[in-house]
Amino acid sequence: MRCQLMICAAIGLFLAFNINVNDAVIFKFTNIVCESYNQSWVVFRYCRLKAVGRDKVHLNINATILHPAYNITNHGKIFKRASGYKPWLLDTTVDACRFMRKNYDPFAKIVFSLFREFSNINHTCPYVGHQILKDFYLKPELLMLPFPTGDYLLSMRWYFGRRLQFDTNISFVFVEDLLKS
Ligand SMILES: *[C@@H]1O[C@H](CO)[C@@H](O)[C@H](O)[C@H]1NC(C)=O
Ligand SMILES: *[C@@H]1O[C@H](CO)[C@@H](O)[C@H](O)[C@H]1NC(C)=O
Ligand SMILES: *[C@@H]1O[C@H](CO)[C@@H](O)[C@H](O)[C@H]1NC(C)=O
Ligand SMILES: *[C@@H]1O[C@H](CO)[C@@H](O)[C@H](O)[C@H]1NC(C)=O
Repeated sequence: MRCQLMICAAIGLFLAFNINVNDAVIFKFTNIVCESYNQSWVVFRYCRLKAVGRDKVHLNINATILHPAYNITNHGKIFKRASGYKPWLLDTTVDACRFMRKNYDPFAKIVFSLFREFSNINHTCPYVGHQILKDFYLKPELLMLPFPTGDYLLSMRWYFGRRLQFDTNISFVFVEDLLKS
């Protein structure tokens, strides 16, 4: 692309500015709660957050699945805080085993892309043994959704067969780049 000096300088400044703008996004965990409803199938050894920087929080989970799970369903729901948590945008049920074969659900695809590199969950069913999420932190560039600034809760209920086995409830904050809004 050809451009005159002043215009080139302006484009350069614009690009540099945009990179700074991206750095201004805050996207981090604020709480995590894991709960097993059936200790003879799923046991959480730990499920916790650790602040490692001003705007960086690591999530670590070690859960053990004591018998192979061949049929896993996830019910995911997002809430946004506005004097209490209100349902927001998404309420979806995903066949997790089918998803791991086909990546068929666009929302699950985003969530999975956020954590796949931090986990040993990247394989098809069945799931058995230690399920690990290690030093998982949120990368705004993977989100690919226009989130308004706010506090959110992603509630996920996990069913084996038709029975609820455990919940993972993850709260996070998203702050849009302030310079743009
Ligand atoms: C709890 O887990 C056991 C062992 O895997 C299983 O046989 C049983 O059906 C489960 N109970 C419920 C209510 O899901
Ligand atoms: C997860 O917990 C199990 C015990 O339940 C332990 O043997 C294993 O080493 C742990 N793994 C990690 C990465 O903490
Ligand atoms: C697991 O990760 C590899 C490499 O990132 C990828 O090619 C593969 O499709 C993934 N498998 C599943 C089931 O997501
Ligand atoms: C999974 O479980 C559901 C509910 O019990 C059942 O309808 C479905 O056929 C099962 N799918 C597989 C692949 O076992």
